[in-house]
Amino acid sequence: MNVVVLISGSGSNLQAIIDGMQNGNLPINITAVISNQPGVYGLQRAVKTDIPAMVVRHSDYQNRELYDAELIKVIDQHQPDLVVLAGFMRILTPGFTQHYQNRLMNIHPSLLPKFTGLHTHQRALDAKEKWHGASVHFVIPELDAGPVIIQGKLPITEDDTSDSLQQRIHKIEHIIYPLAVKWFAEQRLSIDNDSVLLDNAESELQKQTFPF
Ligand code: GRF
Repeated sequence: MNVVVLISGSGSNLQAIIDGMQNGNLPINITAVISNQPGVYGLQRAVKTDIPAMVVRHSDYQNRELYDAELIKVIDQHQPDLVVLAGFMRILTPGFTQHYQNRLMNIHPSLLPKFTGLHTHQRALDAKEKWHGASVHFVIPELDAGPVIIQGKLPITEDDTSDSLQQRIHKIEHIIYPLAVKWFAEQRLSIDNDSVLLDNAESELQKQTFPF
């Protein structure tokens, strides 16, 4: 199964997926890594693994529609069955999300539908939440919405700061994102109305608690 990964930054989630591919856990082939930002570390991670890495700079395009149309062109040259957004910091046009409907995944650092958008860790602290986490979801035109595939959560402690939460949640991301990709590759996911089913049922495996 061909996967194209889109990044904008350090690519630690990309690395978790590369690791899964290399250790035989993930039956996938990453055919390209594409960044909208030049010089980011995630591109080096791809190059080190002999995965084609390229930059499509958003600043070279006059508007979102033109950029996304070019992005589709470049992505489709790599024949993806699945497109994985791994810290790709762009709002996507409806044309883009529709083109990859049901084969476009994102990871978001909150327990969706809570805290869409940015600064999720600070907002969870400010709201005095007891739990915080990360969600992998299929992408629809609305930002950080779409059917949730898997969520991982942990209890917020009194000592937590935005930074500590970010670090702890990142560890969860590196477990749940490869798992979501694996389920997709094994064709175990289906969408029923707005819910994602695993092996045709809502599964406890889609809601996990971590001791980090
Ligand atoms: C992650 O926190 C992810 O939830 C968010 O962007 C960050 C990407 O981190 N969408 P990395 O580049 O994978 O390290």
